[in-house]
Amino acid sequence: MVQTADTAEIRRGLAGVVVDYTAISKVNPDTNSLLYRGYPVQELAARCSFEEVAHLLWHGELPLAEQLAAFERQERAVRALDPVVKRVVDELPTTSHPMDVCRTAASVLGARDPRARDPRAGDSSREANLAKAVDLFAAMPAVVAYDQRRRRGEDLVEPRADLGYSANFLWMTFGVEPAPEVIRAFEVSMILYAEHSFNASTFTARVVTSTLSDLHSAVTTAIGALKGPLHGGANEAVMETFEEIGIDPDESHEDAKARAKAWMDNALAQKKKVMGFGHRVYKHGDSRVPTMKAALDDLITYYRRPEILGLYDGLEQSMDEAKGIKPNLDYPTGPAYHLMGFDIPTFTPLFVASRIVGWTAHIMEQLENNSLIRPLSAYNGPDERHLD
Ligand code: ACO
Repeated sequence: MVQTADTAEIRRGLAGVVVDYTAISKVNPDTNSLLYRGYPVQELAARCSFEEVAHLLWHGELPLAEQLAAFERQERAVRALDPVVKRVVDELPTTSHPMDVCRTAASVLGARDPRARDPRAGDSSREANLAKAVDLFAAMPAVVAYDQRRRRGEDLVEPRADLGYSANFLWMTFGVEPAPEVIRAFEVSMILYAEHSFNASTFTARVVTSTLSDLHSAVTTAIGALKGPLHGGANEAVMETFEEIGIDPDESHEDAKARAKAWMDNALAQKKKVMGFGHRVYKHGDSRVPTMKAALDDLITYYRRPEILGLYDGLEQSMDEAKGIKPNLDYPTGPAYHLMGFDIPTFTPLFVASRIVGWTAHIMEQLENNSLIRPLSAYNGPDERHLD
């Protein structure tokens, strides 16, 4: 039936609306589970590398040893920061948000990619899009790492082909070989952020793709959607909350927890929305949080920072007691990235680097059975009127 303004049921924010099929991931809010191509995400986070998970999301199956080796060779060969992207980034003020830098870099990489020049020239084949996806996957860490370094007045660090994705990412950001504990926690965050069905940024990428635009355009707009604090930007806001409460590395877990509880009680009394809590789909807790919280616990032990756990526990407990609202993935990743040494504005770009996998998997899936995404609206403006 064709819906008109008179017959349509308006579902604001598309809440509860199922718009298409996907075989990439399954979010089940009733059982708090998230499956990537059928595998529980916590199993993947415990046993797989991010490269294996990327292959799984793109191809539908985990890679065989020779497939993984070929993918790693391909990815490691294109990790260096594109010189034109570097020149463009250098022109941007260090006060611009790193998400603006990421979005600009994705756009420049698109304009530089010979396969992206003209979607009518047949460059949106699955083969071409897979190659573009691998290029973007490999290129984004260099952009994110360099951008944080230039803000600190530091020089570019060249990539290392002897390191895996996560270790190289940390190497390019900090210029030192990371500890295995830190690599593992970072890898877990990359795996957990990689894919989450029809979230706002992925849906944005699918809308753009549905017009038969190109992969880089879809990723560029997805980055814009992810920037918002109701979506990816929340991990930054979480850490700003921790900073507002005050971080004192000498404080005990219990004292930090008490201060955090008092802060939360006050914020809720003022009817504030506290970032890092709540989720459109999960109403009883985000399936990814326990896995990321375990990674955060490992970091807290490694860096000996019990007060961070105190702040975490205090906010979580108060919110639960007052409103029964649970943390989302951005809640544990914020303090985890802080402990690793990332600046707060770099947090959402880290999410970008990971989610490129999910976005590009969805772009390819959308094209396999494309239908232009074009909903209707119900007009509620003035009745027809005429110029005098
Ligand atoms: N802090 C305080 N109250 C909250 C929060 C929160 N974080 N989240 C929801 N609520 C309350 C709302 O005030 C509302 O209460 P009311 O019914 O008394 O008015 C109720 O819970 C329902 O909230 P909605 O915003 O209507 O729920 P919705 O499903 O639309 O929103 C959303 C989900 C946008 C994620 C929301 O929970 C929110 O704004 N959270 C903070 C932002 C955030 O952390 N985003 C990250 C998302 S996950 C990710 O991108 C990895």
